[in-house]
Amino acid sequence: MDCIDLIKGSSRIFGIIGHPVSHSFSPVLQNSIESLCQKNSVYVAFPVEEGQVKTAIKGGFALGIQGFNVTVPFKVEVMDCLCEIDPFAKQIGAVNTLKRMSQGFKGYNTDILGMEKSLTIQGISLKGKRVAVLGAGGAAHAAVILAASRGAKKLQIVNRTIKKAENLLEHVKNYYNINGESISYTEFLKGEKPDILIQTTSCGMGKTAETPLEAPSFFNGIEAVLDIIYTPWETRFLADAKKAGCIAINGFDMLLFQGIASYEIWNDVLLSKEQCLILRNNLTEYYQGISR
Ligand code: ATR
Repeated sequence: MDCIDLIKGSSRIFGIIGHPVSHSFSPVLQNSIESLCQKNSVYVAFPVEEGQVKTAIKGGFALGIQGFNVTVPFKVEVMDCLCEIDPFAKQIGAVNTLKRMSQGFKGYNTDILGMEKSLTIQGISLKGKRVAVLGAGGAAHAAVILAASRGAKKLQIVNRTIKKAENLLEHVKNYYNINGESISYTEFLKGEKPDILIQTTSCGMGKTAETPLEAPSFFNGIEAVLDIIYTPWETRFLADAKKAGCIAINGFDMLLFQGIASYEIWNDVLLSKEQCLILRNNLTEYYQGISR
């Protein structure tokens, strides 16, 4: 289909704001969902300079933009520009999805929904499980709130900088009564193994063979391992987990399903399982092709 059939005067406009955004996969992802669901909308990337978020959001509202995704470095800062924030997003302390309301934009966090779906699609539930999260940055916030809110039996936060892990544990304990500990990598490797291991650090991203866990035998007996990285498609961390027989999941499904969740929020729809699988197949093939 040509653009001439797709974009009309009545088309609703969505977009992503961040700095930089030219590399973002979200326009391909969202326009693919749109071409499947046909809701008469288009999605573009808006590069926003640092210090200009408030102006961009105000301008977007004045221009009738229906929704935004928000990426690095604005996921926290943008929270000051919203008329309402979803309680889950408040707990995480970051938003990645804005939906137009009558008085402004409402903020949501669909990263956590994408992370959950990337596990459930493999038949993995966090309920009653011992969950360990590597890292204590932005992505770790979503992982620990997910584990705590879904009834994990135990939560370990592992980080090089212990203070950050302690702060994150304290933060999650403000909302959930969870059996948790914040520990170093050395202590973690000596202790009881988790059932589920979620890797949220940037270690292993890009053209590097680094791994935050230099102990391949540690993976033996762990049920599932999620690495939020998807470039490279298989990090050394994930390859080690796979060799040890764990269910090994990279970050691509999380990326895909956070986007689907944003689309569902904006359009008040739920995509069918079949639609999700079509998108998953097509976009996985596309992404692997361009990232080779
Ligand atoms: P994000 O928002 O993507 O999570 P971030 O807030 O910068 O990014 O956090 C990055 C995380 O990756 C931190 O937990 C960091 O550990 P420190 O707090 O000790 O710095 C972790 N990290 C980055 N590089 C790492 C490496 N080589 N090994 C282990 N952890 C690493």
